[in-house]
Amino acid sequence: MAILVTGADGYMGWPTVLRLAERNPEERIIGVDNLARRDWVEEVGSVSATEIDSTEERYISKDNISFVEGDLSNRDFVKDILEVHQPDTVVHLAAQPSAPYSQINGERALETQKNNISMTLNLLWGLKETGLEDTHFIETTTMGVYGAPEFEIPENGLDVERKGGEDNIPYPAMGGSWYHQTKSFDAGNLRLASGHWDQPISDLRTAIVYGTETEETKETGLDTRFDFDYYFGTVVNRFCAQAVAGYPITVYGKGEQRKPMISLEDAVESIAQLVEKGHSGEGVEVYNQITRPVAIVELAETIEKVAQEIGLDTEVKHYENPRDEKEDHKMEVETGKFMDLLGEQKVDIEEGVRDILKTLKEQQEKIENHEDRFLPGVLTD
Ligand SMILES: NC(=O)c1ccc[n+]([C@@H]2O[C@H](COP(=O)([O-])OP(=O)(O)OC[C@H]3O[C@@H](n4cnc5c(N)ncnc54)[C@H](O)[C@@H]3O)[C@@H](O)[C@H]2O)c1
Repeated sequence: MAILVTGADGYMGWPTVLRLAERNPEERIIGVDNLARRDWVEEVGSVSATEIDSTEERYISKDNISFVEGDLSNRDFVKDILEVHQPDTVVHLAAQPSAPYSQINGERALETQKNNISMTLNLLWGLKETGLEDTHFIETTTMGVYGAPEFEIPENGLDVERKGGEDNIPYPAMGGSWYHQTKSFDAGNLRLASGHWDQPISDLRTAIVYGTETEETKETGLDTRFDFDYYFGTVVNRFCAQAVAGYPITVYGKGEQRKPMISLEDAVESIAQLVEKGHSGEGVEVYNQITRPVAIVELAETIEKVAQEIGLDTEVKHYENPRDEKEDHKMEVETGKFMDLLGEQKVDIEEGVRDILKTLKEQQEKIENHEDRFLPGVLTD
């Protein structure tokens, strides 16, 4: 019995491998990654704030985990690993996950779309072609596929009434970047694999993830990566790093727009719960993997407050918004199904921010040495 975790060297992937290993001692956890994220962050001139170990050091830490290095956009490689390991669950986390990176130029947009879409397609068809149509396929797509609608975001498609008829239609169509669009495309392909050959599929629409650690990374001392640059640092993590560097916390525009958020601990726990629970047998199961939408300005002010409490000198500053987004969008989201899966939220935003700031304070010099990476402009071609 095996669980395959793709993107296993990544921010969410490594703690997910550790949690699954802990919860499923009788199963082998196979991590797969081509280590591209390490290269991408280097390419934009940045580093992980936390010290990240080699895959060799990571994967000797537990008996039931192993690592395979390889490129999942290669169809033969994917078929080989599926054939050899015969996983009963695939947790698909591999992606080029940065919207700004995908927007740099046409080459990066193409690289992102080819990479992400081909991986998912290879895995879905690979499962079918190796006779693994009962394997539970879980993907973390993104809340970003919903865009910023003026109604409550549903948790399983949109109920539409039109000219006397009604239907429930998938809702993956409003991604705001070339990266987000790959997840919209994936959502369509997940639906096809579910419809055409009944592959059990769960689509976790992942919110912005914050945090530096989970129970297992603390226990083993084997940190996950933590990026804080403009391209790869997601908003909570980047703001916290700015606070540690004594750099103003950059809020784009008014900052009143609410963004979906979840802690790393809660994100990883919900994946472990979903692996254990399995699939209901009914089409693509969609979960909105979010614990709460938070306004950007509320986030910045929480960080400012906690930073000052632990002796860091920082302030919130508003900059002209380089992004095309609604600055006062009040995001409302249905999360009942997801919260049933997760149980209870373990880490709220203030607690998460406190943990991050404490961890990052120890890496202050490294962050200060890279503080020019907080803003765009490093890469234009
Ligand atoms: N972190 C977030 O805030 C967030 C939010 C929404 C969705 N997600 C999604 O969750 C997943 C995990 O995100 P993350 O933050 O851990 O990203 P990450 O970049 O840290 O991890 C993804 C991993 O995939 C690997 N990868 C990329 N292309 C590959 C290929 N062709 N073959 C093999 N490995 C490849 C990378 O090397 C990387 O280690 C991604 O699919 C991402 O889109 C993340």
